[in-house]
Amino acid sequence: MQIAAEVVLGVSPMEGEDSVFIDLYTKDPAESTGSGGEGKGAAAGKASSAFKFDPSFLIDPSCIKIGSVLGEGRGAIVYEGLYQSKPVAVKIIRPPKTKYVSLDRQEKFHREVSMLSKVKHDNIVKFVGACFEPSMIILTELLRGGNLQKYLWERRPGTPDLKCSISFAMDVCRAMEYLHANGIIHRDLKPANLLLTEDLNMIKVADFGHAREEISGAMTSEAGTYRWMAPELFSTEPVPKGSKKEYDHKADVYSFSIVLWELIINQTPFSGRTNIIVAYAAANKIRPELDYIPQDLIPLLESCWADDPKIRPEFMEITSHLSNYHKQLCAAELEPPAVNVPESEPQESNVKEEEPPRVHAIDKSEKKKKVKRRKKCRSSFFFFCCRPVAVQE
Ligand SMILES: Nc1ncnc2c1ncn2[C@@H]1O[C@H](COP(=O)(O)OP(=O)(O)OP(=O)(O)O)[C@@H](O)[C@H]1O
Ligand SMILES: [Mg+2]
Repeated sequence: MQIAAEVVLGVSPMEGEDSVFIDLYTKDPAESTGSGGEGKGAAAGKASSAFKFDPSFLIDPSCIKIGSVLGEGRGAIVYEGLYQSKPVAVKIIRPPKTKYVSLDRQEKFHREVSMLSKVKHDNIVKFVGACFEPSMIILTELLRGGNLQKYLWERRPGTPDLKCSISFAMDVCRAMEYLHANGIIHRDLKPANLLLTEDLNMIKVADFGHAREEISGAMTSEAGTYRWMAPELFSTEPVPKGSKKEYDHKADVYSFSIVLWELIINQTPFSGRTNIIVAYAAANKIRPELDYIPQDLIPLLESCWADDPKIRPEFMEITSHLSNYHKQLCAAELEPPAVNVPESEPQESNVKEEEPPRVHAIDKSEKKKKVKRRKKCRSSFFFFCCRPVAVQE
């Protein structure tokens, strides 16, 4: 069985077109004649000997059809696809160029499969199966809403409705609460790894290539993407690859704080700075600006991106605060607007004038007023200990 040449090159013949699928593999003539070919089961069987997967996770690669490209990451291309005629996302790990990269990718692939196959939650992308040969492939449920990064970029320079942003943040929190309760750290939480359902109402956490089981003591430090990476994960000094650092699940809380900040103001964190500069800035306690963040969310953000991981709250606490805040937003929307009707005049109609749409946009002229107000009431909206970190503005 041979992988289609276009896929190896990373170009889908169906790119841009909807609902047109081709077989991922072309069969060897030997296979069809039955002389010396490996057959479907054999390819899957190799995966089990290489990684000792639960055989029930193994998929038959010859039943995969691929369509258009859904997205590309550093190490993989993801296609819309069909597996045994059911819609799936097909993640094909890029072919390795060197032995070193090959081992690295194999390790990432193995980690992703073993993590995905263990987890089951409404806010986590569902695992369908995997195979190791002829290529490393992971099948997951297809999320047609795209990733959160694309969703946010499409709405710039505006911002999503605040209620919607908080609801997305709660989805992420619930998934993270579940992962942490099961001893799993994601280590690469960022908008490109958060996927939306087709109705754009719900977020699911994806990409478990960096996820690992939490252990006490030191773990490999290079995980994640600088802009969202907790400062304790990287070193500002050059260190040998593979060196270990002490950190725990609170690294995910830091990454979440950056995602929450993006959801609210829809800007790139540390925009205009290179990845390395961002790492230095974060290590020096510099955090994204809070000028346009609603008052009630500032203590939460500050505690989530605290330099000291112990100060960062658990996801269970974050969910509870965001849920209260979400209720407040809904209640405020339901309150009827105050209308001044002169007492002497009879009220002609009960029909209220429609409120202007709530555009959660940034009014720059408010900036100074907001900063002043914030200094006044940077207070205790939250019941957990919330020590603000030094923020350079
Ligand atoms: N199940 C899915 N449904 C729809 N789109 C998906 C799915 N899985 C991944 N994608 C798309 O493919 C992109 C890359 O996927 P993924 O993050 O898993 O790859 P990666 O190479 O591991 O990425 P990274 O660069 O973060 O290491 C995602 O940002 C998303 O746009
Ligand atoms: Mg990714």
